Amino acid sequence: MATLTEADFKLLFDDARTHRVWTDEPVSDETLVQLYSLVRLPPTSANCQPARIVFVRSQAAKERLKPALDAGNVDKTMTAPATAIVAYDTEYHLKLQKLNPHAKNIVEKAAQRSLESRTQEATFSATLQAAYLILAARGLGLDCGPMGGFNADVVNASFFADGKWKSVGVLINLGHGDGSKLYPRSPRLDFEEACRIE
Ligand SMILES: Cc1cc2nc3c(=O)[nH]c(=O)nc-3n(C[C@H](O)[C@H](O)[C@H](O)COP(=O)(O)O)c2cc1C
Repeated sequence: MATLTEADFKLLFDDARTHRVWTDEPVSDETLVQLYSLVRLPPTSANCQPARIVFVRSQAAKERLKPALDAGNVDKTMTAPATAIVAYDTEYHLKLQKLNPHAKNIVEKAAQRSLESRTQEATFSATLQAAYLILAARGLGLDCGPMGGFNADVVNASFFADGKWKSVGVLINLGHGDGSKLYPRSPRLDFEEACRIE
């Protein structure tokens, strides 16, 4: 059975840190396309893939994002080569037939469910996809800086004015981090504290 090498695990987990200071190395269109080609693969509810992502890279787009950011997140985001706004599609269910070719009437069945139930499914799976994005980016050699410190309503008004896509509540800075600016890694919970085997 194929498994990751020790070096791969270091890249994805042991040595991967949350970065807040960036080198000047840009993140290309090709890398962002490759990143999404990975993000779409891990599991989502009914393969619904509800995440929609805006990669903020231009100066003009950064200026639109800036007013939404908590003060402590402004510099790290303005200097990041790219920032992913992870959103969910409120109309994600309209694509369910394409994504489940063998299912019968899957769009109609989803449309009959409550908006609350669809929103729960979409936000949960889109948030999973945000986590997949972090791991995929690390696998591609990028560093990440996830942030919850921003006003999602301001992001939604500025980037999703038609109301169809909505932020899931996380932004992810992407680029190549300056490792010399990291502070020591904070502790993690031990297995006995966080898990049990029954
Ligand atoms: C959902 C989420 C929200 C976060 N919000 C912020 C934030 O607003 N600002 C910030 O600087 N870091 C933020 N972080 C980064 C965490 O503090 C960081 O990932 C954690 O302390 C672990 O650090 P490490 O990856 O370097 O070990 C956030 C991380 C996540 C996953």
